[in-house]
Amino acid sequence: MLCLLDTANVDDIARCFDFYPVAGVTTNPTLIAREERPFHDILTDILKVIGERTMLHVQVLGPDAETMVAEANQLRDRLGPGIFPKLPVTQQGLKAIRILASAGFSVTATAILTPLQALLAARAGAAFVAPYVNRIDNIGGDGEGVVLDIVKMFSIHGLSTKVLTASFKNVRQIHDMALAGAHAATMAPQLLDMIFSHPLTDSGVADFNADWAAAYGADTTTLDNDTE
Ligand code: E4P
Repeated sequence: MLCLLDTANVDDIARCFDFYPVAGVTTNPTLIAREERPFHDILTDILKVIGERTMLHVQVLGPDAETMVAEANQLRDRLGPGIFPKLPVTQQGLKAIRILASAGFSVTATAILTPLQALLAARAGAAFVAPYVNRIDNIGGDGEGVVLDIVKMFSIHGLSTKVLTASFKNVRQIHDMALAGAHAATMAPQLLDMIFSHPLTDSGVADFNADWAAAYGADTTTLDNDTE
């Protein structure tokens, strides 16, 4: 399963790309608005960090398919081939997904809450579908079950569309996605950090370091013990 970052914060993106094997970035209008900077400046800065060929999923806002298609074209013209336009699975969004997919765009269908929305988006030509796991859980639904059904439907019907799971509030939900066969999960930087945080890992490393320091001296590493 690929891990993507769900944020528009350039500092967080730079920090996480430095440490973790991150496959791309997803943004949405809420995440963009939180940065309080001009839209294109944010995207340009993100691309400077991740490189033009790394996936950057950017949501369009038009009220109709024609406007969404125009937005996607402008995004790709200005920002290059790594841009995946994100379109919601409304009627207009589905129409725009079909138009853009036929024109060669890799499109992400977003705001998916049910398996059949995902199936229709895949049939329309979406490269990715993004089910919102935590938002489904929040209304008493079964986010993991929805993802399992989408993965199964795509397999039964031979659809190559990938499942980019989204909307997480805890690490367990992401764990479940990996076992459900999701192709990718996009998460907040803080959740990615939490995957790597375990008190026993920290105390284990501290113990190793203390034992080493007692035998070979504090602040030394294997580099200081090269006797050849
Ligand atoms: C998906 O691409 C969205 O950006 C996102 O994951 C929604 O998450 P939220 O439910 O935490 O807002």
